[in-house]
Amino acid sequence: MTLLPGVLLLDAAGPEAGRLAAAAADRGHPVHAAATAVAHAGHGPELKGLLAGTVVTDLTRPGQALDDITAYARRHGVGAVLTVNEYLTDLAAQAAAALGLPGNDPGRARAARDKAVMAEAFTAAGVRTPFSVCVRDDTELKAALADERLGVPCVVKPLSGAGSAGVTVVDGPAAAGAAVRAAREAAGAFPGGDPYRVLLQAYAAGSEYSVESLTQDGAPVHLAVTRKQVSGGTVRVETGHSLPVRLPPLVEQDVHRQVEAAIGAAGIRNGASHTEVVVDGAGRCTVIEIGARLGAGHIGLLIEHALGVDVWTALLDTALGRPAQLTPTARGHATVRFVTSPHPGRLTSLSGFPRTGPGVPFVRWRAPIGGRVDRATANAHRLGAFVVAGSDAAEVEERADALLRGIRIRLDPWPESAGQVRAESTSAIAP
Ligand SMILES: Nc1ncnc2c1ncn2[C@@H]1O[C@H](COP(=O)(O)OP(=O)(O)OP(=O)(O)O)[C@@H](O)[C@H]1O
Ligand SMILES: [Mg+2]
Repeated sequence: MTLLPGVLLLDAAGPEAGRLAAAAADRGHPVHAAATAVAHAGHGPELKGLLAGTVVTDLTRPGQALDDITAYARRHGVGAVLTVNEYLTDLAAQAAAALGLPGNDPGRARAARDKAVMAEAFTAAGVRTPFSVCVRDDTELKAALADERLGVPCVVKPLSGAGSAGVTVVDGPAAAGAAVRAAREAAGAFPGGDPYRVLLQAYAAGSEYSVESLTQDGAPVHLAVTRKQVSGGTVRVETGHSLPVRLPPLVEQDVHRQVEAAIGAAGIRNGASHTEVVVDGAGRCTVIEIGARLGAGHIGLLIEHALGVDVWTALLDTALGRPAQLTPTARGHATVRFVTSPHPGRLTSLSGFPRTGPGVPFVRWRAPIGGRVDRATANAHRLGAFVVAGSDAAEVEERADALLRGIRIRLDPWPESAGQVRAESTSAIAP
């Protein structure tokens, strides 16, 4: 019996990596993980049962990690390298290239991770994208704020952040200093480059969407346009995703054109991408950013339930260099709602959280009772999520909204903030 090629997942933790691991194992591939020592120690029994082996390496140090990963992959007959972790897409491209496996352009992969490199790559490729400028200190900040191409409001964000952490919509110079500090503090688990540099970006007004694509040999297929629900105000967090969205044909054409240019600019040749766009009142599409990975926030599940496309197997096939099956087998609609708290505090009770059942294929609550919850300023502050799917878009959305309205969380003041926060029963919807 010939052994099928091994599949190496960079960071195998989390539900989406778990689905990929399961898809690969189901097809008989030995599944390997690259993980930091802490993540490796935290691998649960289910994942451990799927894994043929793990290369333990410091994924926050790309040079060393690349050497460790490629040496391990050669020893274990790895024939595909994959990640769903935003922070590791550059490393995945470098590893695939070093091993001669299908992947993204290693020379361009940084463009999907560093928003300054991304802005340059987009501009060079003619992608319509907001004016962006990097600043390192107060003098550069002042000069940038005086630049009329930036305008008011503008957006301050970390260069290589994710999950909306440290992103602030700033309505004038007075708020800019605090926003720059917030962006610097949000460097995250995989800090890279100069920690003082942050990005200022012109504000793109309009409706927010993302485009979920899978590219093979440089040819992208757009699986769906997703409508993003985002909280308003100075700090934006995603509160839900719905797909597939049908845009007017001319708008869709413009969206696809811009997204394809962005995919090329970021060197995405073999793999998934999640491109975030804003469509203004005139139907013009502006690209905010691209990720060289499947959309997070359960978008893979939504594609599966709405379109009947097995994205995990498609990702696997792409990484193995085989044609992926991307034709929809269903014409449904799916949406996810994220439960967030409008206040910080100690979570004392939860009621009304939906259970899985017909039309509700997935629920996940992750905030422990008795633990601290934060006001949602980043996607990491989500308390839970649930997915609703069905054949009729309006019915699915109504049902999801009704389920969300039925959820109640109770918060006590957290000791440090006692006196500032009232105990209250509140809808778990961020205002
Ligand atoms: N130039 C912009 N114009 C308008 N809104 C913006 C702009 N940049 C960011 N935003 C808003 O802020 C949110 C977070 O910004 P961005 O996507 O750049 O950060 P991120 O950390 O990469 O987010 P995520 O990982 O959640 O996609 C966006 O989803 C959008 O709502
Ligand atoms: Mg984003």
